[in-house]
Amino acid sequence: MSPGGPAVGVPSKLPRHVAIIMDGNGRWAQQRLLSRVFGHEKGSEAVRVVVRTCRELGIPLLTLYAFSTENWQRSAVEVEALMGLLRRFLEAERAEMLQTNIRLHVIGCIERLPSDVQQALRRTMADTAQNSALQLNLALSYGGRDDITRALRSIASLVREGRLNPESITEEVVAAHLDTRGMPDPDILIRTGGDMRISNFLLWQLAYTEIFVIPTLWPDFGRDQFLQVLNDFQSRQRRFGRA
Ligand code: FPP
Repeated sequence: MSPGGPAVGVPSKLPRHVAIIMDGNGRWAQQRLLSRVFGHEKGSEAVRVVVRTCRELGIPLLTLYAFSTENWQRSAVEVEALMGLLRRFLEAERAEMLQTNIRLHVIGCIERLPSDVQQALRRTMADTAQNSALQLNLALSYGGRDDITRALRSIASLVREGRLNPESITEEVVAAHLDTRGMPDPDILIRTGGDMRISNFLLWQLAYTEIFVIPTLWPDFGRDQFLQVLNDFQSRQRRFGRA
């Protein structure tokens, strides 16, 4: 708890899974006549705050969209800076993750990342594999369409090998082949930066997720904004398509 307690009250109905599209780093930097890379650096501080807040409140699963399949098309300078930032973030946070019982997991294509980043990720995932208070999913080289495509490929292989009948392919079977297998779907999706888009994030998993688009740019997103979203979630009526 921060000194003096939170400015916004802690909500009672907590989500099991929060997913976040961390948008607005570039604009935050441009507004200050700084390079986009500086915006990402500032953005990684907001990541720390959100992870700590989830841990403190007891939210068990947090998925952050840190690098999409489309982000490879950004300039080599920006891609390299993001990869370096990620490696430094992992090195700096590993001890705290161990201390505070946080498990790191990656969704997306870890194999496409530079080898030093892969190494840092694999080491942190192995070191934190037994942790259970909070699972931090980093979506890296992740795309929702790619997730579904890879799932379809592995289901098709099972059918070809005669281990699965096409008639037996249910929604549960599809979900069990996605990167998020075994995890509950997100209850909340937060997108910072104001754009009303899903941007190829968790396309299957967001079917009934409550969406919160907020104008704040990601580097300015803090504990109070996060608590505000969690409080607004209290009054959302979730009907899952029922009357
Ligand atoms: C989108 O903002 C953000 C990204 C593509 C990268 C997100 C990365 C971080 C928050 C920092 C590093 C992450 C970790 C986990 C340490 P944008 O650049 O598209 O912003 P814009 O829409 O204003 O241009």
